Amino acid sequence: MDETEQSTHWNKTAGQAWVESQGMVDELFKPIEDLLVEAVPAGGRVLDVGCGTGGTTVAVARRAESVGIDVSEPMVEAARARAERAGADVRFVRADAEEHEFEPGSFDTVMSRFGVMFFADSVKAFANLRRATADGGALRLVVWRGAEDNPFMTTAERAAAPLLPDLPERRPDAPGQFAFADAGKVRGILEEAGWDDVDIRPVDVECVLPGSALDTYITRFGPVGRLLPDIDERTREKVVEAVRPAFDPFVRGGEVRFGAAVWLVTARAS
Ligand SMILES: C[S@@+](CC[C@H](N)C(=O)[O-])C[C@H]1O[C@@H](n2cnc3c(N)ncnc32)[C@H](O)[C@@H]1O
Repeated sequence: MDETEQSTHWNKTAGQAWVESQGMVDELFKPIEDLLVEAVPAGGRVLDVGCGTGGTTVAVARRAESVGIDVSEPMVEAARARAERAGADVRFVRADAEEHEFEPGSFDTVMSRFGVMFFADSVKAFANLRRATADGGALRLVVWRGAEDNPFMTTAERAAAPLLPDLPERRPDAPGQFAFADAGKVRGILEEAGWDDVDIRPVDVECVLPGSALDTYITRFGPVGRLLPDIDERTREKVVEAVRPAFDPFVRGGEVRFGAAVWLVTARAS
C-alpha cells in the first residue's frame, strides 16, 4: 500500500473495523498497553502516535498529560468518545504524525503501540517526532517482529490463499504491519532521525481473545478481512469455512491464545 492507500485504509475499512471492535482490541493488546504505560514517568507530557481509538492514550492519562495523534477520522472520533466516557482530560489531534507541526520540545515521552509502521518516509516522521520531544525525553514503541515469528497473524491469509488469488502479498519493505520487523533497519531510521541510545529488544507477550471473537477477527482484520467485503457471499462463506479450522492450534478451552512477538524499542532525545 502506498501513502494514499494507507490513509484510505485507516479512514475506511480498517478504521471502521478497529472502531467497531475496540473492546476486542483493548482486551487483546492490554498486556502491550501495560508494557508502554507502566514505564511512563508520572507527571510528564506524553504523545501517543497512531493512537487509534485511544485505549493507550486514556490509560496513560492516569500518570501524565496525554495527547493522541492519528490520521484516521473515525478512530479519533471514537478516541474522543472514549475519553469523554472515562472522564479523562486527553486531547486528540487528527493528523499525519509525519507532517504535523508539533510545538517543538512539547513532549517528554513519545510512545506508540503498533502505530508507527505506516509512514511513507519513516526517517522524516521520526525526525518530526524528535523535534516534538524535549531534550532528555524518551521514545518508547512496541512494533511487530517478523511474520515468521508471528504465525497467528498470517494464519488467515495462508488458509484463504487458494480461494483468494487476489490477496495482496505482504511486503516487509513497504509501510504495513511488519515494516519494522528488521531491528537493524529500525535502528538506522531512529539514528538518522536524531534519536540517541537506541535499544531494541525482543519481547514475547501472551495475548488472549475470547473464542466468540474469532469470527470477527477473521472477517474484519488483516489482509483477508480487508478483502472479504468486496467478494461475493458464496466465496466469503467458503473462505470463513476454510480459515476457521486453521486457527484450531490457537484455541484452548473457549479462548484463543497466541504469542505476540514484538520489539520493545526505546531511545532518548539528548
Ligand atoms: C495498528 S493501529 C494501532 C492503533 C492503536 N495504537 C492501538 O494499539 O490500538 C495503527 C494506527 O496508526 C494510525 N496511523 C497510520 N499512519 C499514521 C500516520 N501517518 N500518522 C498518524 N497515525 C497513523 C492508524 O490510523 C491506526 O489508528
